[in-house]
Amino acid sequence: MKKVFKVRSALLPTPIHKMKRISDEIGKASIYIKRDDLTGIGIGGNKLRKLDYIIGDAIDKGYTTVLTSGGRQTNHGRLTAAAAAKFGLKCVVICNGPKPEKMSGNLVLNRMLGSEVVFMDLKELEQVFDVDPPQQIIDDYQNFVEQTQQKVIKKYEAQGDRVYVIPMGGHTPLGIMGYVDCVKEIMDQNAEANRKIDYLVVGNGSGGTYGGLLLGSKFYNAPFKVIGINIAGKDERATEDIIEVTNKTSDLFNLGVKIAKEDFTLYENSLGVGYNQPDEETRRAMYRIASREGILTDPCYTGKIFNGLLKLVENETIEKDKSVMVIHTGGIPGIWTEEHLDAMHSELWTDIDVYEFRKEDK
Ligand SMILES: Cc1ncc(COP(=O)(O)O)c(C=O)c1O
Repeated sequence: MKKVFKVRSALLPTPIHKMKRISDEIGKASIYIKRDDLTGIGIGGNKLRKLDYIIGDAIDKGYTTVLTSGGRQTNHGRLTAAAAAKFGLKCVVICNGPKPEKMSGNLVLNRMLGSEVVFMDLKELEQVFDVDPPQQIIDDYQNFVEQTQQKVIKKYEAQGDRVYVIPMGGHTPLGIMGYVDCVKEIMDQNAEANRKIDYLVVGNGSGGTYGGLLLGSKFYNAPFKVIGINIAGKDERATEDIIEVTNKTSDLFNLGVKIAKEDFTLYENSLGVGYNQPDEETRRAMYRIASREGILTDPCYTGKIFNGLLKLVENETIEKDKSVMVIHTGGIPGIWTEEHLDAMHSELWTDIDVYEFRKEDK
C-alpha cells in the first residue's frame, strides 16, 4: 500500500459499545454503535478521518490555507476549521446561502476556531436546490461557485498565501482512505472483543464515508455487509460519482480492488421532508435514542441515520438475532440552529414546572 504523509487530528480508535436498552426494547437484532462522533477536536465527527489525509497533503505540498464549502451548517466546514487550527493553517469556509442575521450551530464554532466564513447569496438560483433543477441553473450555480472560490483564492494569494481547495464533504480520493482504514480498525476491535457483526450501517451524504467503507470491506475481506442510509434523495449519477472517486482511492493507494454498482446497498427510508428540514419523525427517533441510551443525534444527519437503522431492525430487513453496528458520524451542533430549535420548542418546552419563591410562604 502506498505511504502518504498524514496528520493525526482524530483520536483513534473510536469506542464501540452495545446500545443495550434500545436493542432490548426492540427485541430483534443486537445494535452496536461506533462513536465516530467522539473523534476529538472541534466536537468530533466523521470528517476528521478524511481530513487527516487531506490536511497532511496540504502541509506536505506547502499550502498555507485551506478553503472548503458546504451548506450553512456544514459539519465538514467546522472540522476543517478545527484541523486547520490544530496544524497552523488558515481556513475559509464558503457557505451556500445568504448570511443569516444571527450566528448559530456550526457557524459560531467556525468563527471560534478562527476560520473565515463567506456566504454565497443564491436568491436568483434557488431552483438549484430542487429535486431536478434545469441544466442552465446547474451550470450557473457551478460557475458562481467557481467565481466565488477564485475571488477568495485571489484575496489570500495577494497576502502571500497558497490556497488548497477541499471539495464539499472532503470527497476526495485521499480523504476516502480515512474510511478504508476504519474497516481495519473495526475488524481489530471486534477481534479483540470477540464480537461478530453481520452488518455495518452508515449515513450517505457526499458518499466518501460509505465509499471508503465499501472499498475497505473488500480490501480487508470484512465479514460484514456495509449498508448506507441516504441523507438526501440520490440518483444514479450520485452512485456513479461515489464509484469513480472511491476507485481513484484504490488506484492512489494500489489497493488492487475496486467497488462496483452491485456492491451498493442504500436505503432511503428516512429522508423526512427534505435535506436539513425539521421533521417530526426524525425528532421522535432522536428523542428515543437520547432517552434510552444517553446518545445525542442531530436533525440533519444522524437523527435520520438512526431513524433509518431502527426501521431496518424493526421491520427485520436486518434479520432478527443478527448483529448490526452503526457509525455515529457526529453533527451535534446542528441541534442549535433556529429552525430546529423552533420545531423542538412545542415538544420539549411545555409542561415545565417553575417554583417561585414567595416571602409570605416562608
Ligand atoms: C454528521 C454527518 N454524518 C454523515 C455525513 C455523510 O458523510 P459523507 O459526506 O462522507 O457521505 C456528514 C456529511 O457532511 C455529516 O456531517
